[in-house]
Amino acid sequence: MKRLAIITLAAMLSVSAVYASTGGQEAAKSGKNSSGEWAHAPLIQVMHDLAFNFSRLQFGIFTNNRPMIKDGASAIAVHPFPEEGIRPFLKKRGKEAEPIIPESIGAIKKTAAQLADAADKATMLELQQKANVIAEICVGCHDLYRD
Ligand code: HEC
Repeated sequence: MKRLAIITLAAMLSVSAVYASTGGQEAAKSGKNSSGEWAHAPLIQVMHDLAFNFSRLQFGIFTNNRPMIKDGASAIAVHPFPEEGIRPFLKKRGKEAEPIIPESIGAIKKTAAQLADAADKATMLELQQKANVIAEICVGCHDLYRD
């Protein structure tokens, strides 16, 4: 089961690498939320804020609200992860996840930056497909830490 989760996540990362090779990184350069404060926040608070911003972009896609999609995706594109690493409050150590953590976070940020850049023009279906790539990486990593 664990192996399957790792293989699935690795496949998602290669899909997002394809997305990452196209489109600009405007959001990553000009993004908000890049203050150092989040780098020292506990993991649980960082994850809450990531999920909150994902909800924002998802709600924007459902309602064709392009500024909302752009803001949610821009926040994810530059969101810091805790400098102390992904450790606190875990029931399961997630050792298998460690080698792919930097790649997973990088893929989320790149795809979110592209989504933010595309938010003005792409169709809602195209935006949803990019949102799916982000969500699958989030869930793929969680699976490695949960029973
Ligand atoms: C590289 C691994 C990894 C990635 C990528 C990741 N997370 Fe997490 N996340 C974790 C770990 C580890 C936990 C804590 C363990 C748990 O909740 O089972 C967690 C917990 C959470 C929680 C639960 C917090 C709570 O209150 O219990 C939410 C919500 C969450 N993540 C959202 C997200 C979202 C949204 C994304 C993608 C934009 C994301 N995560 C990407 C590793 C990751």
